[in-house]
Amino acid sequence: MSADITGAPGTALVTGANKGIGRAVTRRLAQLGRRVYLGARDEQRGLTAERELRGEGLDVHFVHLDVTDESSVSRAAKRIEREVGHLDALVNNAGIGGPPLPPSRTPLDEVRRTYETNVFGVIAVTNAMLPLLRRSPAGRIVNMSSVLGSLAHAAALEDPTGVFPPGVFPVLLDYNTSKAALNAVTVTYANELRDTPILVNAVSPGFVATDINGHQGTLTPEEGARIPVLLATLGPDGPTAAFVGEDSTPTGQRLSW
Ligand SMILES: NC(=O)c1ccc[n+]([C@@H]2O[C@H](COP(=O)([O-])OP(=O)(O)OC[C@H]3O[C@@H](n4cnc5c(N)ncnc54)[C@H](OP(=O)(O)O)[C@@H]3O)[C@@H](O)[C@H]2O)c1
Repeated sequence: MSADITGAPGTALVTGANKGIGRAVTRRLAQLGRRVYLGARDEQRGLTAERELRGEGLDVHFVHLDVTDESSVSRAAKRIEREVGHLDALVNNAGIGGPPLPPSRTPLDEVRRTYETNVFGVIAVTNAMLPLLRRSPAGRIVNMSSVLGSLAHAAALEDPTGVFPPGVFPVLLDYNTSKAALNAVTVTYANELRDTPILVNAVSPGFVATDINGHQGTLTPEEGARIPVLLATLGPDGPTAAFVGEDSTPTGQRLSW
């Protein structure tokens, strides 16, 4: 197992890691020598992904974790504490989106459901894992956001990632506003933790072909995992409270909040 900047073997937790971008992030972090806890809400799907990645010789451990269920979150934290005692990286990847309806026709329950996962779930997992991250000399928190959560880009009707033409910006009430809230959550934690080594950042992984968009994305999950992995393995001089998007440049592009 390779070492992180502290010389200690690194440990990471990725939520929603049984498929899509989360599984690709898990694979890449494990390829870099991390012991990675593969969080999944469904045991069978989690075990299947664990088996697949272990078959590649990777140090991956399924942990049952439904981000909307606080008892499951707390059990996952206790298990990681018992087994490794600390966490070097938390990737809050689990996310959902409701049906693509205009805001005026979006049922409030859909908005609540999306927020439970994309916002409140992230807060629950972050608070449960922070004691473990504080024990790392270089804790990193990566929140999987989206350019659709950028208020600045939405108001200007411009998509800096080039997926949508100028003048077009999707109006997904539950998804966009949940990611905007997640962006605010990211900056708020980053500011609380500024006097610690913990760096907290948000990422827009690009338009990635996964189940969440019916595989319409143009990037592979491995390509979408690149910036999240970069932020999960930042050195001590890395940014905090940054919103970084995939743009094929080595460090990605800084997005406006
Ligand atoms: N794909 C893109 O173009 C794109 C662009 C910007 C941002 N993102 C973000 O990237 C993240 C990953 O999405 P993806 O594209 O990889 O989609 P995906 O293939 O649908 O994966 C979503 C993952 O989240 C898990 N999940 C959902 N609710 C959960 C819960 N309550 N507890 C734990 N896990 C839960 C899913 O588990 P199940 O298999 O059990 O449903 C699945 O593993 C999301 O936050 C998404 O918003 C994606």
